[in-house]
Amino acid sequence: MTDTVEQVPVPLDVRSVGTRLARVDGPEKVTGRARYAVEHRDEEGLGDPLSLWLVQSTVAKGEVEAVDASAALAHDGVLRVLDHTSAPRLEDTEDGELAVLQDARVHFRGQIVAVVVAETSEAAREGAALVEVSYRAEPHAAAFTVEGATYRPDSVNPAFETDSDDGDVDAALAGSAVVVDASYGTPYEHNNPMEPHATIARWHEGDDDGVVLRLVDSTQGVHGVASTIAPMVGLGKDQVHVTAPYVGGGFGSKGLPHANVVVAALAARETSPRPVSLAVTRQQMFALTGYRTATVSRMRLGADRDGRLTAIEHRAYAQSAAVKEFAEQTAVGTRSLYAAANRRTSHRLAVLDVAVPSWMRAPGEMPGIFAHEVAMDELAVACGVDPVELRVRNIPERDPETGKPFSDHRLVECLREGAERFGWADRPAQAGATLDGEWRVGTGMAVSTYPGYRMPGNEARVTALDGGRFEVAIGCVDIGTGARTVLTQIAADALGVDPAAVVLRVADSSLPPASVAGGSSGTASWGSAVSAAAQAFLHEHGRTPDPGASLTASAADDPLNGDHVFHSHGAVFAEVRVHRRTGEIRVPRLFGMYSVGRVMNPTTARSQLVGGLVMGLSSALHEESVRDPRFGHVVTQDLATYHVASHADVLDVDADWLEGSDEEFTPMGARGIGEIGIVGTAAAVINAAYHATGVRVRDLPVTADRFL
Ligand code: MOS
Repeated sequence: MTDTVEQVPVPLDVRSVGTRLARVDGPEKVTGRARYAVEHRDEEGLGDPLSLWLVQSTVAKGEVEAVDASAALAHDGVLRVLDHTSAPRLEDTEDGELAVLQDARVHFRGQIVAVVVAETSEAAREGAALVEVSYRAEPHAAAFTVEGATYRPDSVNPAFETDSDDGDVDAALAGSAVVVDASYGTPYEHNNPMEPHATIARWHEGDDDGVVLRLVDSTQGVHGVASTIAPMVGLGKDQVHVTAPYVGGGFGSKGLPHANVVVAALAARETSPRPVSLAVTRQQMFALTGYRTATVSRMRLGADRDGRLTAIEHRAYAQSAAVKEFAEQTAVGTRSLYAAANRRTSHRLAVLDVAVPSWMRAPGEMPGIFAHEVAMDELAVACGVDPVELRVRNIPERDPETGKPFSDHRLVECLREGAERFGWADRPAQAGATLDGEWRVGTGMAVSTYPGYRMPGNEARVTALDGGRFEVAIGCVDIGTGARTVLTQIAADALGVDPAAVVLRVADSSLPPASVAGGSSGTASWGSAVSAAAQAFLHEHGRTPDPGASLTASAADDPLNGDHVFHSHGAVFAEVRVHRRTGEIRVPRLFGMYSVGRVMNPTTARSQLVGGLVMGLSSALHEESVRDPRFGHVVTQDLATYHVASHADVLDVDADWLEGSDEEFTPMGARGIGEIGIVGTAAAVINAAYHATGVRVRDLPVTADRFL
């Protein structure tokens, strides 16, 4: 029997939660049995897909005049070429990024203007090279400048107020004993998960189950893909069946479907019932699957001589795309971090004829808190106050933005414990004071913060199996974070059974609805639904149910205590060595101390936090996408030119957390851990580089030339 109830969960009685349960999908992964999107080739209905290859615009703005596919079609194995004149029509073209092959307009260089269908990947690729596209080019704008960032969006990602203004910032700054006034820059960065975006699509009307479009997609959310693509291709959501059994990371770029998924669906409609396979290349990802906008943050901090903030102003400038708006919430993190009576934030965008920016791990917080935390370091220097002590003096009693209490605000403990563990006390107050052979040595720190997010609309289904086992089903995706493992632990505790008695099913849009693996919200959102469903099931069927008994329940949509605000915090400490002759910069030690509510599994949690620290280190030292404004595209479009941290960069990197539990937020006491590790990390490195050298860098990445 199945029935649906809404349940307000109570705190979980933890037994498996908090233990180091080994990844439940570990054996599948290490033995190579785990299959990723385009590896699904020998299954019923998905076997023997045709291959697709994308043809991308070589102009940044204008119109496609003509597509000459004759040479491509003459090539062995090429079956057809779809362009804006021949591709199936979409029913909904509202989303400018997704409405591809519908008209002749070109909005950015790299936009999909045709797709080649062939028997093999090699033939499709060769065919794409043979397609001749002529354009009527128009003047374009592709250079991001602060002066050009004049557009004021209605709200910023996802729905924050664009601007905020409390008190009188200008008057407070005029009356402040100490003022820091500087601009901080972060570059374009591109999400580079191990597995590029990839899709297998099959269109077949008349399947028994009513499914018309079947997709295996490398995505952070199968339900999101189904509900986005279905109306575009004129189907109901239930007619689109999406699975994503294994996903090789995403970092936000797979949080929403991009145009490649639409192309796969359109092509599959043409080749029906034969499926198609579209694997986006690493190079194509730099134009098609989202990126972090460059930002400039103008920070003005006013303080008394003891470093107590009187005014905080954060004016953020970033970039959006003409074809589709994305407004990063760069200054939003600043609103809740420190106490000051006078506070002002704003967001302005340069709207350019370029590829569409999107989410990349801690969008907003990563660049915004970088700026704020380097400015805080400058304030500490200006006031002659220890940087840790400066933060402690400015921690708010309540959320400065809403006036509400925090559920679990333990930043002071993170700072004190982190400083103790790192050995902060031995640090000379003066910058440039330590030389070790040819190396200047310094230490620096920064605060990290990330909101606790819980997404609405999550449901889970519990079904009794034989032998005292339970199937627990929820349509979320594990992109490699360990979500399968942690949800197994939550389900086991909620049902009062051993984890081995839980058969977890995820990553399938025919399972109950689940929100995107994004915003560090997965454990909180899905775990709350699993917990609620288990609790409702036990209430309905008891502890010894008949096999087949089943129940679906949704979590309460909001945190348990709506009177609070929910933020995680951390303190990141770095040791930096800068070579006095070459400027080479090394980071021998990096340590983050976090408060994230209850940790569900120390093994997978440490992996997320250390992974975030490494990505922060990578942003500090290497990551930078370079756009050529003359042509409008990113020229660093591979991993040879877009540098990321390698093993040689990652020395002693570690993370730990305060034992705790945020049961105001979720029944498990968990907040989120996916993104906080990247926040603040680059600032800690930059601040340590200042301490080593006395050279203040205000733009990422910090490269050797800055010290010469
Ligand atoms: Mo994350 S950028 O919210 O997937």
